[in-house]
Amino acid sequence: MKLIEDMKIVKNCEIAKNIYEMTLTGDNVKLMNQPGQFVNIKITEMSQLILRRPISICEIDQEKKQIKLIYRIKGQGTEILAKKLPGEVINIFGPLGNGYPEYSIKNHETALLVGGGIGVAPLYELAKRLSRRKIKVKSVLGFATMTDVFYEKEFSFYGEVHVATIDGSYNFNGNVLDLIKSKNLQFDVIYGCGPQAMLKAINDEYINLKKGYLSLEERMACGIGACYACVCDKANKSTETVRICKEGPVFKLGEVEI
Ligand SMILES: Cc1cc2nc3c(=O)[nH]c(=O)nc-3n(C[C@H](O)[C@H](O)[C@H](O)COP(=O)(O)OP(=O)(O)OC[C@H]3O[C@@H](n4cnc5c(N)ncnc54)[C@H](O)[C@@H]3O)c2cc1C
Ligand code: FES
Repeated sequence: MKLIEDMKIVKNCEIAKNIYEMTLTGDNVKLMNQPGQFVNIKITEMSQLILRRPISICEIDQEKKQIKLIYRIKGQGTEILAKKLPGEVINIFGPLGNGYPEYSIKNHETALLVGGGIGVAPLYELAKRLSRRKIKVKSVLGFATMTDVFYEKEFSFYGEVHVATIDGSYNFNGNVLDLIKSKNLQFDVIYGCGPQAMLKAINDEYINLKKGYLSLEERMACGIGACYACVCDKANKSTETVRICKEGPVFKLGEVEI
């Protein structure tokens, strides 16, 4: 089966300031079965937007043949995406990459999901799947400010949720790591996605203490491992690199240089 498909937009609406949730339907949903994978979206045929835009898969509904994506308006590509209407089609390449290994945690263990900003999105399908296995899920969602907050209620269906804002305008005042420490959250396996500084802080803090998986982000071109636009160094081996789109975007704690 081809990984490229024109998928139909079912819904595309703003859920927080400049944050949009898009629901898509198509046959290729049946290939999407791993939390943390991404799709590469062709925005238009315009030459200045020739590169596809990588966006994580937030939720997968096999019965309805639907996926949800959550994206932040950042530049020209996502701005155009936000104007698309239900009924229109967009060309989707995916699923791509390796997501979170959901069976990396045992049934009696506790998972801590840590999302920063738009990095909250790929953790949602993981939360759903882990809780279906009766694994205890704790989610820590970090945002810059109150108007950025999204999916607090959605995550609460699957376990306890803690929200931190950097400016203190909503719930905990500080970053996600401050919150984890201040509330003394206990867990066995940590799963993270968010800004590089947040991932580095998690990596440095838990590298020798916990099992964990982090989803990295890098500017991409092909999205399939062919162009080497997205390489990063393997930890402690500066001559060895990995491609974030192909070997990742999810890596074990301590596996790559952040
Ligand atoms: C694996 C992966 C998953 C992602 N998941 C999401 C998600 O779920 N939601 C979301 O809002 N964003 C996500 N991003 C970031 C998203 O791809 C960029 O915000 C988006 O491509 C910006 O496009 P633009 O045209 O609006 O911005 P512009 O800045 O105009 O983009 C110019 C070029 O830079 C690239 N680019 C810019 N920022 C990034 C970035 N952070 N990462 C990769 N390429 C970038 C664009 O793809 C484009 O080729 C993800 C990135 C990666 C690598
Ligand atoms: S984007 Fe081409 S190798 Fe990763």
